[in-house]
Amino acid sequence: MNIFKNNIFIFFVLIIGLSMNVNSAEGTTFKNLKPGFSFEGPFGKFDKESLKRGYQVYSEVCSSCHGMKQLSFRNLSQPGGPEFPTEMVKEIASGYSITDGFNEYGEPLERSMLPSDRFPKPYGSKEEAKGANNGAYPPDLSLIVKARLDGYNYLYSLLKGYEEEIPEDMDIGDLSYNPWYPGGAIAMYQPLYEDSVEYEDGTPATVDQMSYDVANFLTWAAEPTMEERKRLGFIVMGFLIIFVILMYLSVSRLFRDVH
Ligand code: HEC
Repeated sequence: MNIFKNNIFIFFVLIIGLSMNVNSAEGTTFKNLKPGFSFEGPFGKFDKESLKRGYQVYSEVCSSCHGMKQLSFRNLSQPGGPEFPTEMVKEIASGYSITDGFNEYGEPLERSMLPSDRFPKPYGSKEEAKGANNGAYPPDLSLIVKARLDGYNYLYSLLKGYEEEIPEDMDIGDLSYNPWYPGGAIAMYQPLYEDSVEYEDGTPATVDQMSYDVANFLTWAAEPTMEERKRLGFIVMGFLIIFVILMYLSVSRLFRDVH
């Protein structure tokens, strides 16, 4: 009887331990700044106002060099994201155009974009992108937060971390100095300066605020269903706990008379 009790207890602790540990890799970081984001932790949710501002920073500053190909315009209106009204998303999409199909003479046809279209690419080809950027390719940003260790804190640190004073022993040529970037020399010029955007909600657009908002937005972009995942996780955990309790009760009942 005691053996059963112990085994079940260990099983229970293991399951809980394992499920809690899944995200701990996010925390392994060397020295990134940690401003603290609302989506952190098992109960965390996105700050929608910050997501909206972050979209504004992406679209007005970053999108001229970086695409976001995994996202469609309509994602902007879905639950768990910035939740822009559908009418507004239609309007945003229609501001871009795309070649789609051919007319009767075989000439490519242009049309304005729809909410179901993916975000437009800033350059026609990789070569063109490199040519315009010091030979470096500006990566697609839709999954960048997942592609870097401690992604959102790194992004925040990188964007606000440009320094004018270059260490004496470094020769970086045409590149910019950013101690957060591995190696310190980055081909992206400092993209954000005080008042690079004028926030529609009146929030002062400091470099710190814009870096924070766009890091927030790109975290959502990398996983638009994060809130749903967390919610489901709790339902599954709850079910598991009830299941383990029922198992325990039935097993102890079954072996009640075994000595
Ligand atoms: C003028 C073009 C340009 C703009 C505007 C721009 N970037 Fe970049 N970005 C680049 C280039 C080029 C690179 C590649 C740098 C390299 O390889 O050294 C890059 C790299 C990056 C990286 C990858 C860094 C890494 O660890 O590899 C991130 C993240 C990034 N940019 C985010 C942003 C964000 C967010 C914005 C808007 C606030 C932005 N960029 C605006 C050109 C740009």
